[in-house]
Amino acid sequence: MKALGIDIGGSALKGAPVDTNTGKLLAERFRIETPERLTPAQMAKAVVDIAEHFQWRGPIGIGFPGVIFGPKILTSSNLHKDFIGCDGDKLFTKATGLPVGLINDAAAAGFAEMRFGAGRGFAGKALLLTLGTGVGSALFYRGTLIPCELGHLPMKGKSAEKRVAASVKEGKDLSWEKWGHRLNEYIAILEKIIWPELIIIGGGVSAKHEKFFKYIKTRAKLVPAEFFNESGIVGAALNAEEQR
Ligand code: BGC
Repeated sequence: MKALGIDIGGSALKGAPVDTNTGKLLAERFRIETPERLTPAQMAKAVVDIAEHFQWRGPIGIGFPGVIFGPKILTSSNLHKDFIGCDGDKLFTKATGLPVGLINDAAAAGFAEMRFGAGRGFAGKALLLTLGTGVGSALFYRGTLIPCELGHLPMKGKSAEKRVAASVKEGKDLSWEKWGHRLNEYIAILEKIIWPELIIIGGGVSAKHEKFFKYIKTRAKLVPAEFFNESGIVGAALNAEEQR
């Protein structure tokens, strides 16, 4: 089984065909940089460019960094505001002429990690956090996915992601220690509410987990994501396949 997975992010969109039985990419990723915030129509055109690059004719899975509510996109914290209220299903299906499955980007990443990566075979309560431009989250209990928006939990008067996203560490040039302590505070709040048994940390920083995991005190088993940069693509493809 094959699907084209596309991960829409704050600074680029990336796609590749995926073997949904193994979670492996079937070709090298194709990436389109988006230094400017693309409007929904421009984003749909970029999605078409990715499909055309692979001469794709099958199902497409798209991971989007916002709330997916039925066919609609309801939030867009780090992308163009015109996505808010936009029928994402219709937008991308019409533009590509192909069946499209839309899912939150962190939920997609969680899907991939639980099926083929750091959460493989784990049947308890798992929390995945992606630390990138924003903070994405997904919960799994006995294998069932619950997309959630824990990055917007209020912390010191603002959305938690404005304190703990990897982009904040970079933008404010925070040391690993300072940022690690912030993350620890955030995870302590999540722990009080969710009590996860396993926490998977994704996003580019997961490759450097040994620099900040030491500041995080949690009862849960804390592990880095295994997919590094590909989980969003793989999970979006898995979702497209399952929605068929
Ligand atoms: C969005 C989430 C998304 C996360 C990671 C947040 O700002 O609200 O929906 O999963 O960023 O991209």
